[in-house]
Amino acid sequence: MRWCSTPRLPLLLFLAFLLLIGRSSGKSPGFKICAFNTLGLNAAKAANSRVTHTLTRIVSRCDITLLQEVKDSGGSAVRALEAALNRYDQYHYQSVSSAALGNDPKDMQQYVFIYRTETVNVTAQHQYRKPQSFVREPFAVRFRSNKTATKDFVLVALHTVPEKAVQEIDRLYDVFQEVSKKWNTQNVMFLGDFNAGCAHMTRANKRQIRLFSQPGFFWLIGDKVDTTVGDGTNCPYDRIVVYGEPFLKTIKPYSAKAFNFPKEFRLQRERALKVSDHLPVEVELNSSAHLCQATPLLLLLLCVIAQSCLSAL
Ligand SMILES: *[C@@H]1O[C@H](CO)[C@@H](O)[C@H](O)[C@H]1NC(C)=O
Ligand SMILES: *[C@@H]1O[C@H](CO)[C@@H](O)[C@H](O)[C@H]1NC(C)=O
Ligand SMILES: *[C@@H]1O[C@H](CO)[C@@H](O)[C@H](O)[C@H]1NC(C)=O
Repeated sequence: MRWCSTPRLPLLLFLAFLLLIGRSSGKSPGFKICAFNTLGLNAAKAANSRVTHTLTRIVSRCDITLLQEVKDSGGSAVRALEAALNRYDQYHYQSVSSAALGNDPKDMQQYVFIYRTETVNVTAQHQYRKPQSFVREPFAVRFRSNKTATKDFVLVALHTVPEKAVQEIDRLYDVFQEVSKKWNTQNVMFLGDFNAGCAHMTRANKRQIRLFSQPGFFWLIGDKVDTTVGDGTNCPYDRIVVYGEPFLKTIKPYSAKAFNFPKEFRLQRERALKVSDHLPVEVELNSSAHLCQATPLLLLLLCVIAQSCLSAL
């Protein structure tokens, strides 16, 4: 074939190769959102350098991480984690935190969102407050990023109490209505330890939950995902749910999963359990990169070859 021997082809292939090297050594392409139940992160726990190191490695994988079960009203544990992150990583991290929530003075918990200042901004926050609705009322934060295909989105944090998991998950529907009206956006993601599995939420319970019965809600972490550390348990407690096809379409297909940090970091079970008995869950948003940047390696090569063919004809 004539075009195959065009003298331009090797040069074009070489240029494509250089381009690809440049791409793959750049920053990670997706935009990752993670949620992690920290099993009572407080000053004493943050003082354990092994725990803080593991937390740092977990959080530094994500553009935004929702930490739950943070018991740090003085703020020193989160400050220590932020300082560790800012030393460890190329990005800078900031956080936004809810008040301490709960009805037991010995078990007051905060929701904390830690995010990269280079990739995302916080534009608003809202604490849901309806008496008798939740033990730890959902905390909503509105983000804006110039890196994501969906520029403006809301994350709603929830850590249910196990014995009320079904009612509390159902009431997220009311939170959705309030938040989407307040901010006039339907790009809403719910995330956290919903206790949405095993004995706390059964298949039959789904009929009582509007996030299943009403249209438009997509459960990205399925019922078969194990979000617990340890061999004895296999429960999909931690979940990510998004509203609406427009938002769903800008989420990377099959990117929602649990991150098995003990396995990935080769930590022994006892060591991992000092950090948490949960695994983080995560999902990736499409980046706003134009088509050429999003095109995988092979397609780019084919594209270049095709171009050279056409010009050789
Ligand atoms: C996105 O925001 C970052 C941080 O403010 C900035 O450095 C970057 O230039 C922005 N990118 C675009 C395409 O606006
Ligand atoms: C954050 O907001 C500032 C001010 O509006 C803007 O210049 C910057 O690009 C934003 N950063 C990102 C990552 O979107
Ligand atoms: C998001 O990315 C996936 C592949 O990573 C692609 O198939 C999909 O079309 C993209 N969606 C949008 C809206 O960019």
